[in-house]
Amino acid sequence: MKVLAILYQGGEAATNEPRLLGTVENKLGIQQWLESQGHEFIVSSSKEGPDSDFQKHIVDAEILITTPFHPGYLTRELMEKAKNLKICITAGVGSDHIDLDAAVDHNIQVLEVSGSNVVSVAEHVMMSILLLVRNFVPAHEMIERGDWQVSEIARNAFDLEGKVVGTLGAGRIGYRVLQRLQPFNCKELLYYDYAPLPAAAAESVGARRVEDLKEFVSQCDLVTVNCPLHEGTRGLINADLLKHFKKGAWIVNTARGAICDKDALAAALASGHINGYAGDVWNVQPAPKDHIWRTMKNHLGGGNGMVPHYSGTTLDAQARYANGTKAILENYLQSRPQEPQNIIVGDGRYESKAYGQR
Ligand code: NAI
Repeated sequence: MKVLAILYQGGEAATNEPRLLGTVENKLGIQQWLESQGHEFIVSSSKEGPDSDFQKHIVDAEILITTPFHPGYLTRELMEKAKNLKICITAGVGSDHIDLDAAVDHNIQVLEVSGSNVVSVAEHVMMSILLLVRNFVPAHEMIERGDWQVSEIARNAFDLEGKVVGTLGAGRIGYRVLQRLQPFNCKELLYYDYAPLPAAAAESVGARRVEDLKEFVSQCDLVTVNCPLHEGTRGLINADLLKHFKKGAWIVNTARGAICDKDALAAALASGHINGYAGDVWNVQPAPKDHIWRTMKNHLGGGNGMVPHYSGTTLDAQARYANGTKAILENYLQSRPQEPQNIIVGDGRYESKAYGQR
């Protein structure tokens, strides 16, 4: 059986750190195991264009393993060429780089290692919330420059206590963020999600559901985005919706870059309407060198907490999603049923309710 994995290049770091399992070098720790059973295992980071390893090997691979951190974009057109492809496994969480509707049409299963990195992301969200609200990045840059001007930083530094914080999407990550926000004594915790939280879960974190999106954003001092990217969320935070955000609001997006309109967001930040934006996800990955989100700033020269896509790929998370990928492979190879929570697209239909309402 031919198994193709598109992973990120780990370079020297991966040679020196074997726990970087999600890299081309360390191959999710499954190379020996797969090859000892006689399977062919191709691992590469080359994913763009007709000459890429991705496009070359997809034509006869039966199993495709991809990662959201270096997404191999599996389009409908590529699926049509992938005559043997039966199953796509996302080593991590978030399968928007795969055309899920096309997977349904082609009877290709799509699975994720659900839950594998949700704590990792929720912790990153907490860090990003604090670094924006407290104006951390410009403060650190000032120190590195050798300067010391407290007022320059303090004029845009606040406490999280007393603020209204809302999560757009209250699934595994969104809910964990709400849990972690509790001890900060926010004024109110809100959520917007077409799937309401069970009453006891909402009560236990003290979160109130707001059913209208504009209403939701207009009430929040800070919005954290925690929903998958699908046709209903692509470009959801656009110029029109941004007008409904409170002036001076912060946005943290560790879900997917394309949920926010790149240029509308940068413009809202520059104008001062949005005070800060932080996250690790980009509309194209790797982000081009001149991507405006790398350098965009608020009207005071701060408000940018962007990093490369790594919140869900801590070493702890890599161990979990590498194990989870192996478990999905084992089930497939031994024709055993998959864990229901991991199935995004099953036999010709969506099994997950998180990728849009249908
Ligand atoms: P989940 O499936 O547990 O929760 C997603 C929630 O979003 C569900 O409650 C769903 O109903 C809700 N949702 C879907 N469409 C919505 C919409 N239009 N408006 C409001 N809510 C909507 O997923 P989980 O584990 O919480 O992950 C969420 C997303 O976070 C992933 O799909 C992925 O894109 C991203 N992620 C990012 C990582 C990173 O490293 N930056 C790592 C892991 C996940």
